[in-house]
Amino acid sequence: MAQNTRGTQTAVAGWQRGAPGASQFGVVGLATMGMNLARNIASKGIPVSVYNRTTARTDEVIANHGNEGPISGAHTVEELVSQIARPRSILIMVKAGPPVDETIAHLVRHLDKGDILIDGGNSYFMDTMRRGRELEAKGMRFIGAGISGGEEGALLGPSIMPGGSPDAYQLVEPVLTRISAHVDGEPCCTYIGPGGAGHYVKMVHNGIEYADIQLIAEAYDLLRTALSLDAGELAKIFARWNEGDLESYLIQITAEVLAKHDATTGKPLVDVILDEAAQKGTGKWASQSALDLGIPVTAITEAVFSRFLSALKADRQTASKVLSGPSQSAESDERAGTLVDDVQSALYASKMVAYAQGFEQMQAASREFGWDLKLGAIARIWRGGCIIRARFLNRITEAYAAEPDLKNLLLAPYFRDAMASAQESWRRVIGMAVDRGIPAPAFSSALAYYDGYRRERLPANLIQGLRDYFGAHTYHRIDRQGAFHTRWAQDGQEVEIS
Ligand code: 6PG
Repeated sequence: MAQNTRGTQTAVAGWQRGAPGASQFGVVGLATMGMNLARNIASKGIPVSVYNRTTARTDEVIANHGNEGPISGAHTVEELVSQIARPRSILIMVKAGPPVDETIAHLVRHLDKGDILIDGGNSYFMDTMRRGRELEAKGMRFIGAGISGGEEGALLGPSIMPGGSPDAYQLVEPVLTRISAHVDGEPCCTYIGPGGAGHYVKMVHNGIEYADIQLIAEAYDLLRTALSLDAGELAKIFARWNEGDLESYLIQITAEVLAKHDATTGKPLVDVILDEAAQKGTGKWASQSALDLGIPVTAITEAVFSRFLSALKADRQTASKVLSGPSQSAESDERAGTLVDDVQSALYASKMVAYAQGFEQMQAASREFGWDLKLGAIARIWRGGCIIRARFLNRITEAYAAEPDLKNLLLAPYFRDAMASAQESWRRVIGMAVDRGIPAPAFSSALAYYDGYRRERLPANLIQGLRDYFGAHTYHRIDRQGAFHTRWAQDGQEVEIS
């Protein structure tokens, strides 16, 4: 019988359903993600015990999936804990926030020193840091694991970003790597770093997911507005893009969403979906953290703002009758012919900016919190399983392999050259959007970032002059060391401030 590094049996034979200590893993919280992760674990022949606060849900999961592998249901936390071999590993899959603390508090009463709790939800990284400290003080070990891939990923192989106790990770690594997605034979799971590192990286993943989705939505809007293309035609364009550099899960499902028809009206389903985007907060957290770190993560932040603007539906309805835009004219045949290719290039260039910013944010967080994040390894585990999985992530891994301390992805040869060849199209697309009054905030802010980042001298000299004028905030000079203040409105003299 197979043995894993914990010396416990991993095959089904000999496993007793619900017997004391017979399970190798526990899962608490059986909504779709928790249930599918438990099924994934069991499908690998790893005995797993599951518990949900509502007993009926536990029974339902066992009734529907109990024959897929060694899954055992527990009706109480005591029962769950008794079924798992020590040191116990229990994955918590409950809603982020207070439910995680409540679940931990409940479990801890029945656990022993050395047991391992893994929070697999989208928890805020600062909460993860606090929980790690609290559990450590009690002699228990904690892992905050970002898990991406939605319900299908959870079942068939997600991307897993575990952070926290390194020795605990060693113990759960065999299970986590086995249930994760695999690309080129490598698991999409690696130890991210101590404390809240795993949840931080998942938060940035989600921020990039917001930016990616916003860029796709802008590409769709530019083409449908400028060229009057319908959803079916747009579906074909996205399907074609998915065969090139843009190949990714999100582009693939965009084609599928656009091609779907509504059973009630017969119209493209996308045309009858209300244009108000919801959010659960991870993108906002990513932006907030970037602001705290002082890193210009414009793509994620524009994506968050765009969701806020979309949610102001009633206000937009009013404004649409009051505020004027440019007079709309059909694209000339000449421009229409190249627009699809231009938007494709603009999407790719903007996407590169979004990733460059997200990776720079992780680099800054790594310095701030002492996490020693391995950015190349993060790109590698995002190649499969997760929502932002994409062909292009190989390029990021290669860039960090060539230069682990790379300051900004855009400086790596592949990205530098790709931006250079995309920029003409990118500028044409944004010019067209401005001319026609089509909002493209993520496309245009990405270009503004690119143009700002490549400028040796920005107009911040004037900002400093103004700040010094009204508030004596001082400025530095380009030709001398030290801080200076000019008595602008008094005698006009410059003084050096020691
Ligand atoms: C994932 C997703 C997942 C969730 C998003 C949705 O990686 O599997 O990111 O975690 O679907 O967080 O986020 P919003 O509801 O905020 O769009």
